[in-house]
Amino acid sequence: MKKLVVAVSVLSLFGATSAMAKTGAEIWKATCTACHGANGEGKKSLGPAQKGNKFIIDSADADIAAVIKEGRAGAAKKYKEFPSPMPAQKALTDAEIADLVKYLKEDIQK
Ligand code: HEC
Repeated sequence: MKKLVVAVSVLSLFGATSAMAKTGAEIWKATCTACHGANGEGKKSLGPAQKGNKFIIDSADADIAAVIKEGRAGAAKKYKEFPSPMPAQKALTDAEIADLVKYLKEDIQK
């Protein structure tokens, strides 16, 4: 009986977690396209292109994840032609950011 209770609670925990976690594609659509464009083509003054972007193609996953998590503002900013900061994405989990990095490196580049 005890085993059954444990099994059921592990199952419901797993169910709750997977229902809440969003995929990189979902987060991209909901949170990133306003500034970076639906297909990562970028938007004038708002955000640089991600498609064909050397930083995305050449950087380690951890470096891209850090920009998403911490954002880029003030002295950390790289582009003058995009005056606004890259907003830090504090609400995303590390797993969600990892999936987002994969989305940027693979799907967006197609
Ligand atoms: C309010 C507009 C805005 C939103 C929303 C936004 N970004 Fe950005 N992002 C920027 C700007 C502006 C920069 C360039 C910052 C700089 O000057 O270094 C940037 C830079 C980046 C970079 C670094 C690119 C490079 O060439 O160095 C990555 C990666 C990135 N954003 C990913 C994302 C992801 C993923 C999301 C969604 C979770 C997102 N951004 C949402 C505006 C935005």
